Amino acid sequence: MKLVPMAEILNKANDEGYAVGGFNINNLEFLQGIIWGAEEKNSPLILQTSEGAIKYIGMDYVLGMVEAAVKNTHIPVALHLDHGSSFEVVMKCIRNGYSSVMFDGSHYPLAENIEQTRKIVEAAHAVGVSVEAELGRLGGTEDDISVDEREAAFTDPDEAVEFVEKTGVDALAIAIGTAHGVYKGDPELDFERLKTIKEKLNIPLVLHGASGVPLEDVKKAISLGINKVNINTDFQQAFTAKVRELFASDEELYDPRKYCGPGREAIKAKVMEKIDVLGSANKA
Ligand code: G3H
Ligand code: ZN
Repeated sequence: MKLVPMAEILNKANDEGYAVGGFNINNLEFLQGIIWGAEEKNSPLILQTSEGAIKYIGMDYVLGMVEAAVKNTHIPVALHLDHGSSFEVVMKCIRNGYSSVMFDGSHYPLAENIEQTRKIVEAAHAVGVSVEAELGRLGGTEDDISVDEREAAFTDPDEAVEFVEKTGVDALAIAIGTAHGVYKGDPELDFERLKTIKEKLNIPLVLHGASGVPLEDVKKAISLGINKVNINTDFQQAFTAKVRELFASDEELYDPRKYCGPGREAIKAKVMEKIDVLGSANKA
C-alpha cells in the first residue's frame, strides 16, 4: 500500500507552521468524503481508525478500502491507529501495514506510560512506522469510553520534556482543555501551557477533541505549535444532520445511496472547511 509515515507529514507541518487533519473514518462514506475533500484541497492527510472503528469495519475491510482510496491519489496519506490501548493492538496494526500508530498510555502513572511507550517506539521505528503518544488526560467520550471531568488532567510541561526524551515519540498529544465528543459549554483552552510546552519541546504537538472548538481557537493553537488536529464528532454530526434532513423531508426515502451519498458530500464539505482552518491546503 502506498502510505507515508506520519512523521514525514508532521515534520514538514512543524517546519512550515500549519496543521494536518487526523480525520477518523467510521465507514466507507467517511473514507471517501475525507479523502475526496483532502484531494480537492491538495492537502496531506492522516486517516485514522480507532480500535472501535476497526472492530466495526473489520481489519480486512479497512485495509481493502484504504488501499483502493490511496491507489491513485496524488496527496501524501498516512494510515494511523488512533488511541491504541496495548502493545498487541499496536503490533497488529503495524503488521497489517499502518504507517503510524498512537499508543495512549495517558491513564497510566508517568513512569509506566514512559516504559510502555518506549517499547512501542523501539519496535515501530525499527520498521519505519511513526508513533504518537499522549501525556495528560482529556475528558469526554470517545468510542463509548467516558473520562469524567475530574479525571481529566492538563499536561505538565516538564513531564512532557522528560516523556519525549525518554520515549523518542514522533508526536505528542497534549491535554490543554479540549475534550472528546460534544461539548456542554464552550471549551477553554490553556494557550499559555501550549506555548510553554512548544518552547521546551519543538516536536509536532497534537490536539485531540477538536470538534466543536471555535475555529479562531483552533487557529490560535496552530500558531502556537499544534501540527495535528484530530476530528471525528464534527464529521459524524455533518453526516447525520444531512441524513436526518432528508428523512424529514421525504417519508418515502428508502434507497441508502440516496441518503448516504449526500451524507458523504456533507463530510467532504466539512473536511474542506477544516483544511482551510488548519492551513494544509496546497501542502501536498
Ligand atoms: O482521537 C480522535 C479525536 O480526538 C476526535 O475527537 O470526536 O471530539 O473530534 P472529537
Ligand atoms: Zn482523541
